[in-house]
Amino acid sequence: MESRAAVLYEMGLPRPYADSRPLKVETVKLDEPGPGEVLVRIRAAGLCHSDLSVIDGSRPRPVPMALGHEAAGEVVQTGEGVTDLSPGDHVVCIFVPSCGHCLPCREGRPALCEPGAEANVKGTLLSGARRIHRGETTIHHHLGVSAFADYAVVSRHSLVKVDPRLPFEQAALFGCAVMTGVGAVLNTAGVKPGSSVAIVGLGGVGLCALLGARLAGARQIVAVDVQGEKLSFARELGASDTFDAREDGMEEAIRRATAGGVDYAFETAGVVDALHLAFRITRRGGVTVTSGLPHPDRRLSIPPVVLTAEERTIKGSYVGSCVPQRDIPRYIDLFRQGRLPVDRLLSGTLPLEQINEGFDRLASGTVARLVVTT
Ligand SMILES: NC(=O)c1ccc[n+]([C@@H]2O[C@H](COP(=O)([O-])OP(=O)(O)OC[C@H]3O[C@@H](n4cnc5c(N)ncnc54)[C@H](O)[C@@H]3O)[C@@H](O)[C@H]2O)c1
Ligand SMILES: [Zn+2]
Ligand SMILES: [Zn+2]
Repeated sequence: MESRAAVLYEMGLPRPYADSRPLKVETVKLDEPGPGEVLVRIRAAGLCHSDLSVIDGSRPRPVPMALGHEAAGEVVQTGEGVTDLSPGDHVVCIFVPSCGHCLPCREGRPALCEPGAEANVKGTLLSGARRIHRGETTIHHHLGVSAFADYAVVSRHSLVKVDPRLPFEQAALFGCAVMTGVGAVLNTAGVKPGSSVAIVGLGGVGLCALLGARLAGARQIVAVDVQGEKLSFARELGASDTFDAREDGMEEAIRRATAGGVDYAFETAGVVDALHLAFRITRRGGVTVTSGLPHPDRRLSIPPVVLTAEERTIKGSYVGSCVPQRDIPRYIDLFRQGRLPVDRLLSGTLPLEQINEGFDRLASGTVARLVVTT
């Protein structure tokens, strides 16, 4: 069948993207879903920094690639062997398919699925197939989803069925920003009530971490960014202290405000300087969690003696260490009870044709989450 999709042919084109237009919205041909696969009518897809990092070349991937991975939609057709989804079901896409059989999957850590990671790096579905074509060219899938499109063929293992009462543009956020941010706090760090937390980088992921920290009962939530608007928004969402990372003396001011540093610091900017800062504002014995995805060539330099003598921990957090089939329905319940108001993060919706302009706005650091609706 035919579908529109936003396809990246070349990484690293200059900003503004409104002029260089790295994403071409074009008509592609989708194959029928193969065994274990599902055709989804995509209805909403969020603009995440991980898409931007493919566009700007800091997360190198094979091109041409159809981008978009934070999405929600409706099942249209199921491939052979898919017995637990039916046409009309509402689904949220997850950006690491999990095979269910490899060691991380058997350990209950599907975000680390080995065949899932391999497929994502190669730009294929979990089966190894690529189902998007334009003329003679076969196009790569982004994270098994490719959701800046009207339709997508994805693995069953890339989908979680959700409550159909949830509007699609809210549901989409659960697929990446919510799992990544809330999961980092609840799963990766296991933040305890009464503790102090810092969040460095207040985009979709960081603001979800902030909401997660409130939910976890943190007594102090320090929010840090380089954009003034983000700091005031963080205060509206419940941050107790905010700091501009560009200001001199900010690091000492945070340490003073937190009596020597926080129990848990989260880096959610995707910038090494932000991770370094998060580490330095973590207290002795504290935990620094990193969710950002800087270019693979970037390095972090810290004195190892501090890890030992101060019993410090640095933990990576991918997909918020979530088990999506368990956590997405839980987080949706918490949202519906008003305890996880992630709808506040929606900065606006845009049509697929304005996707390049949308990425200019994300790159400017001023929006939380923009969502393409189709
Ligand atoms: N671990 C995962 O599973 C996972 C999932 C999704 C996204 N990510 C990554 O998380 C990061 C954040 O994603 P997002 O979509 O929220 O991004 P975003 O662009 O919406 O937000 C990033 C924020 O960081 C701020 N920032 C930039 N430099 C900073 C600095 N030096 N100090 C403090 N703040 C700074 C920006 O102003 C912006 O507000 C990206 O690297 C993305 O690729 C990881
Ligand atoms: Zn994402
Ligand atoms: Zn697996």
